[in-house]
Amino acid sequence: MADIGIGIVGGGYMGKAHAVAMAAVASVFDTPLRPRLEMIATASEASAERYRQAYGFRRATADWRSLVADPRVDAIVIATPQKLHREIAEAAFVRGLPVLCEKPMGASIEDAEAMVAASEGHVNMVGYNYVRTPATQFARALLARGEIGDVTWFRAEHTEDFYADPEAPASWRTDGMANGCIGDLAPHIVNAALALVGPIERVMAEVETVHDTRPGGRVTNDDHCQMMCRFASGAMGHIYASRVATGRKMGYAYEISGTKGAIRFDQEDQNALWLYRMAGPAATRGFTKILTGPDHPDYRQFCQGPGHGTGYQDQIIIEAKDFLKAIHSGEPVWPTFRDGLEVLRVTEAALRSADSGHWQSISSDQKVGSP
Ligand code: NAI
Repeated sequence: MADIGIGIVGGGYMGKAHAVAMAAVASVFDTPLRPRLEMIATASEASAERYRQAYGFRRATADWRSLVADPRVDAIVIATPQKLHREIAEAAFVRGLPVLCEKPMGASIEDAEAMVAASEGHVNMVGYNYVRTPATQFARALLARGEIGDVTWFRAEHTEDFYADPEAPASWRTDGMANGCIGDLAPHIVNAALALVGPIERVMAEVETVHDTRPGGRVTNDDHCQMMCRFASGAMGHIYASRVATGRKMGYAYEISGTKGAIRFDQEDQNALWLYRMAGPAATRGFTKILTGPDHPDYRQFCQGPGHGTGYQDQIIIEAKDFLKAIHSGEPVWPTFRDGLEVLRVTEAALRSADSGHWQSISSDQKVGSP
């Protein structure tokens, strides 16, 4: 198995998740490449060195450009705040390096479009990891096989409460629309909508700031948002995202109604998928809780026992496996930068709708690939 030098920019929440995933992935999956933690770049020499030691990288730097230029770095993971995604990705593609970029892929639709243009001919992928749980991959397979018939309705939320406390201090996440709820959190569940039900044609949305000041500064973006949507398939939908949803910790949840059945999922119980089939005697019909196991996608490699479960970090390991596969084959693996752009087209239309108070259509060439 050939080894590959990985450079990660950003060492915080996601930098750690990607470092752990890259360290573990070749042991979990039979990958064609074995990652070598070559270099980490963060905002200061001190933090870079701290993360180097903690995660096991060979070298550390406070200058991401030197990481991108380093001859022993063969692929890049971008795990910084979104305002830096574009610059780092563009520099990496100039060197021809494969890039896995954290969502939401830049700080604006212009960033995302420029990143797609720069990515042409290079391996690229966006970090929408939640669609990679065995349960949600299985839900996609059920939908593709028509197990619940034609989808008529989709309801989803991404609810967390990390800013429910008004005394929680201001941070980069409370400054600028790209980092608010619709910019930072909603993209995950919009990506789920596109992955599960297909392209969205139009949206009607509202955004709201619940706590407009926090210790350390004024809040200049939204705490929660909601949107009604109409899918190209004709299905109706509703999406809600919040960082002030008191009590909810990882409420990435969806419910899909079809003409022959229904599916429900909640990431807080991520090893279960609920399936309802409109079949058999009415008295015995009901949602069935299906616990994930080795017969579901990407589960067996973690554990041979059904119902034992996978967790958040495992999603990132699955993502790392798919990124390595893309690098080795030279073929893009969903979701690519192009798919990431489609997500931003929806959130951008939602912001236009929130400003205008009217439905807004989404101009795009939306094509959601298969996992
Ligand atoms: P964080 O605040 O925990 O970490 C950010 C890191 O970026 C820090 O290590 C910081 O030193 C580094 N950084 C900042 N400026 C830099 C510079 N100029 N050069 C090099 N490094 C720099 O942020 P977090 O939560 O890890 O978010 C990073 C990205 O990941 C964001 O785009 C966010 O939307 C996304 N994210 C994705 C999640 C997922 O489940 N896929 C979950 C959380 C965040």
